[in-house]
Formats: sequence, C-alpha cells, structure tokens
Amino acid sequence: MNIRELVSQKVSAAMSIAGIPSNFTANVIISKNAQFGDYQANGTMAAAKAMRRPPRDLAAEIVSYLKLDGIADKVEVAGPGFINISLSSEFLSSLAFDIAKDPRLGIPQAEQADTVVVDYSAPNLAKEMHVGHLRSSIIGDAQVRLMEFLGHHVIRQNHIGDWGTQFGMLIAELEEALTGDDALSFELKDLETFYQRSKAHFDADPAFATKSRDYVVRLQSGDAQVLALWKRFIDLSMHHAEEIYQLLNVSLTRKDVQGESAYNADLPVLVKELKDQNLAVESEGALVVFLDELADKDGNPSPVIIQKQGGGFLYATTDLAAIRYRTNTLKADRVLVFTDARQALHFKQIFLVAEKAGFSTPNAKLVHCPFGMMLGQDGKPFKTRSGGVVKLADLLKEAIERSEALVMTKNPDLDADTQADVARKVAIGAVKYADLSKTRTHDYVFNWDAMLSFEGNTAPYLQYAYTRIQSIARKANASTDVAPLILETAQERALAIKLIQFEEALEQVNREAQPHIICTYLYDLASLFMSYYEHCPILKPEVPEPIKNSRLTLNAATARTLQLGLDLLGIEVMEQM
Ligand code: ARG
Repeated sequence: MNIRELVSQKVSAAMSIAGIPSNFTANVIISKNAQFGDYQANGTMAAAKAMRRPPRDLAAEIVSYLKLDGIADKVEVAGPGFINISLSSEFLSSLAFDIAKDPRLGIPQAEQADTVVVDYSAPNLAKEMHVGHLRSSIIGDAQVRLMEFLGHHVIRQNHIGDWGTQFGMLIAELEEALTGDDALSFELKDLETFYQRSKAHFDADPAFATKSRDYVVRLQSGDAQVLALWKRFIDLSMHHAEEIYQLLNVSLTRKDVQGESAYNADLPVLVKELKDQNLAVESEGALVVFLDELADKDGNPSPVIIQKQGGGFLYATTDLAAIRYRTNTLKADRVLVFTDARQALHFKQIFLVAEKAGFSTPNAKLVHCPFGMMLGQDGKPFKTRSGGVVKLADLLKEAIERSEALVMTKNPDLDADTQADVARKVAIGAVKYADLSKTRTHDYVFNWDAMLSFEGNTAPYLQYAYTRIQSIARKANASTDVAPLILETAQERALAIKLIQFEEALEQVNREAQPHIICTYLYDLASLFMSYYEHCPILKPEVPEPIKNSRLTLNAATARTLQLGLDLLGIEVMEQM
C-alpha cells in the first residue's frame, strides 16, 4: 500500500471539507526527520494564501476534519502551517508484517499495465562500445527491470547503429580478412583496431576506396552478396556487444535488436508523406522540416534535415520511422529513449515532427531520458591515459582485477571459486551502482576507489549489509516463519517505516525514470538497519523470544528488500563475502 498516497487522499478530503478548491494539493511528503512525524502535509500554506486565511488556522481546521483512524495516532500543526502525521504503531506493524509475509514485499502489480518501449544501449556497430553506451545500457536496463517487476509490458529496443557509409569500407576490409588464411576462425576481437585498419586502408589505397564506395551503393540497392558480407559483419560486432551485456548482467538479447537498418524501407515513404503534407520543404538541395516551435531567439526556425542533397537519409529520418513503428505497430503507451544529454535537441525535434506529421499515436508519451557524461578524475571526459576511448571490455576487466585484490585481503579464507564469484559480483555491482546512484542528468566522475569502497553509498556496502543480515540468520538458525512485529524502539520503528516505503520509491522510478531513487532508498535502508542492529540485540540470551522473532522477521524483510532492490538495478548479492 502506498502510504503517502493514502495519507494524501485523506488530507485532500479534509481540505475539500474546509472549502479549499481542488486545484490545491495536499503536498504530502515523507518527513525528513522523525521529529516532524512520519509524513508531512505541506499544501496548506499555498491554499491559505489564496484564500487569505491565516495558514495555522486553516491547518487546524483541516486537521479537525481529518479522518486518520487506524492509520495515524498523532497529528500536529507545526511551524507556519505544516501538518505532521505519525503513523500508529499497530498500523505500522501490521503493514510491515504483511510485507514480510509477501513474496513481492507488498509491491502490487500495476492496475493498468502500460506497453512501454525502451530504447537503450544502442551501440554503433562500426566501432567498439564506449562509455556512453555503458551508461545507456546500465540505466536503461535498470528501468526496464523495474517496470517489468511492476507488471508493465516492456518492449526492449536496441536501436543499434548498423547502417551508413562507413560500413562499405568495413565490409570491404572484412572480405579481405575472410579470404586470408585464418578465414574460418576470423573473429572481430578488436573492433576499434579493425576500424582503424580499414580507415587507413581506405585513405591509402584508391582501389580499396573505390571498392568501399561501390559496396555502399550495392548495399543500399540490396545486392545479395554485399548484404551477406554486411550481415556477417553485424553479426560479429553484435557478438562482441553481447559479451559485454553478459558480463554486465544487462538483459538485452538478439531478439531486442531493432537497428537503424530495420527502418530502411519506410524512409522514402515517410519522406514523401512529409513532403505531401508540406512539412518538409527543399532547402539548398536538401529536404528540411523547419520548426517554428523551436525557433532561436532571433526567430529563426529550427531545421531538421530529413534527406540530404543526393538522396541520403539521416539519423533523424530513421528516428521518425522508429517512432511510427513503436507507437503504431508496437502500440506503445510510452516510449523512453536513453541517450546522452547532447542528443536532447535531436529528440525534441523529432518528437515534434512526429506529432505534427501524425507519425505517433495521439496518446503515446514520447520521452527522452538524457544522461550526463562520465568524467575522469580530472573532470574531463573519461579517456585512457593516452587520450583514447576507453573500451568497455578493458574497463570491466580492470574492475574485476581490482575487486579480486580487495576480496582477497578482506576475506582470505574463502575458497577460490567463491572468491572469484564474489569478486565478479562486487566489481560489476560497483561499476553499475556508481553510475546508477547519481542523478541521471548530471555528469559524474568515475572513481575506482570510491565505487569499490565498503563504506558509503556503494554496491559493496549494500552487498556487505546483505551478507551480514544473512549471517545473523544462519547463526540464529532462523526459521523462515514470519513473526508478529513488536516495534518497541525508535530504531525498529524507523526501519519498519522505511520498509513500507519501498513501494513509493519504485513507483517514483516508474514515473520519472530516475533509478538513483532506488539507490538512495537502499542506502537509507541499509544505514537504518545498521543503527537498529547496533541498538537492538537479537541473539543475546536475555532477549525475550517474541522480540527476538520480531527482530529476525525485520532482518529477513530488510535482506529481501536489499536483494530485490539490487536485483532491479541488475546487481547480484551473495551469501558471504
Ligand atoms: N547509436 C546511437 C549512439 O550511439 C544511439 C541511438 C539511440 N537511439 C535512438 N533511437 N536514436 O549515439
């Protein structure tokens, strides 16, 4: 049960009895400090101002109409007119008990399941995956897992860059590689080097350059032989991306691939429609849609080129076709696209064009979910020491090596297999969590020591908290039975309140596509657990049995919440570390 919503409804009802117009909201938030109750309604002040009434008076009147029997046992007006609400202990313990009993930890399935298309990862197959795709893959995958858990119908779309003139040169190079001695065993081990090799070849050898250009033309006209080579290349490059997904525990598979090339057939059709609707006009030989809605400060409309001089289509054209496919064919209620913030204008433009041209369905929500850049310690875009692109494969390898060394010193007694397993989970968890825990839209500084630390808002801290709780359960030989909760101390109460607020956090992420909210929640939960654990003995002989069982139940619910929360972020836990 979403308690914030429940309290909101009750306060709104009381506000309406007090004669406050319904456009004023209760504005109920989770209190930052237990001193101000568990929830706080902050909407009175705005309403009082509009109604020209002293806010404290109005707050008192609202409180007099407020029906919170069985929910809250203390309601107070504070400060300039805040209403502070404390949940009743019986209500809280019965809610937390229900959560502890429920395999889904009290999280309901969405009443109305949306069809949500999520476009994420989307590497360009001509080149090696780089850090921009790391962020998109990690954040997009967390969002997808969460929405699926909430019961939405999620359709992953990996909009890979698999089309464009550079493929002419790459498949010409591939053809030569395949006719060499190692033909059968050829693997695209290092895409970056392969790209550079073919580029150098292209620049140095006019015959090769001519052939590459010819391949582009033949590719576009559907020549079977060239298409077969292209497919081979895409397959090799995609295989490389899949290795990264697997290592990163990202849930994308081949069947989620719907690359740029998938829209080829629709591009001329779509361009003709834009022309027929007089939305696209010729300008300097190209076809352009001019958007007055996005005009600059001098009133110049924002241009969206949809066809180049000479007939070529662009990134924008493909994205228009993608919107049409996602809303009309896949019937998306929502489309979320995760790319870095530098593409913000691009998506503003194409969403607007799609709407004006009727390519999207009227009720579909099109949302660009931008993220900031990953920076190095120097505050500049993350690069290798020599200034090159950091290959994801290398980055993850380094993460695992660092984590291995760490795990070895922390717990030298683990057997080798367990050690390797723990090291991998910690490494991947650390890299993903460091990214996920930051506000998505901000740039963030990549820092090995911070992300692998066992203290602070990190994956290892949460994974460690989980193993600690599990080890208490083992020591107690705890049964899996759920005991009634007795919330005697402030620490037990605070932990129980946090547990019942998991649902609110998840629903917020569903709405706002900001997975860091889950991280903040889990970090708060683990911290509250630690302070509860310090204050509330569990296994000491003097602890009465019902209290011990209540605490073991709180423990188990906390551990399962940590596990589920991390799982929604695509991070694994382990029983010991
Ligand atoms: N391939 C693009 C890039 O690497 C990202 C594609 C994102 N999705 C889209 N529909 N444009 O920047």
